[in-house]
Amino acid sequence: MRNEPRAFMLEGPDYVPSVYDHHLTRRLSAMAGQYADQAAYEQMLAGEDVTLYEVYELQRPQVAGELLHGISIVHPGKVGDEFFMTKGHFHTVLETGEIYTCLKGRGAMVMETPEGDWAVEELYPGRVLYVLPRWAHRSVNTGHEEDLVTFFVYPGNAGHDYGTIETQGFRKLVVERQEQMQIIDNPRWRERVASTGSA
Ligand code: PA5
Ligand code: NI
Repeated sequence: MRNEPRAFMLEGPDYVPSVYDHHLTRRLSAMAGQYADQAAYEQMLAGEDVTLYEVYELQRPQVAGELLHGISIVHPGKVGDEFFMTKGHFHTVLETGEIYTCLKGRGAMVMETPEGDWAVEELYPGRVLYVLPRWAHRSVNTGHEEDLVTFFVYPGNAGHDYGTIETQGFRKLVVERQEQMQIIDNPRWRERVASTGSA
């Protein structure tokens, strides 16, 4: 990792950064238990372990003061009637935010706090979203053919807590019904069990 300012290009049509350090690919098999329609999930996985999304990271030390950034590409598709989406996470250091800028496609950012607030914001090219500290976030591609491409920036010390979402899910799901995008309650959402303070 060179300690010099680094510039790179983000250009269509695919927006893969001209320079990056790490390319992560997340497939359907990594999302066990996350889609509401379990039968549709199993059936799809039996066919092919499709790539749901990819992340191109420009790496920096994971410490306060640094800004981690890169590109997230969520491919189009659905599991049952639920759109392809990222795993989603809280930041391990809850009091850290994140900026997303949409470069391509149509989508939604599903967000919620440990306190029970939730929000869904639309994403389309030119739209910039500030995910406040404390808000878990998941991007969803609500398009039918195009990738959803976003550029993200977050504090180096934020970390990713995937476990909470893997266990409880998000309160809201983004689905397509009667050819319309809809935000519905997640029937499998589990209220976070208050910590007892014991180890
Ligand atoms: O830090 C972020 O929020 C993004 O870089 C995400 O990591 C990226 O969009 C992939 O999502 P996830 O980390 O939930 O798999
Ligand atoms: Ni994040």
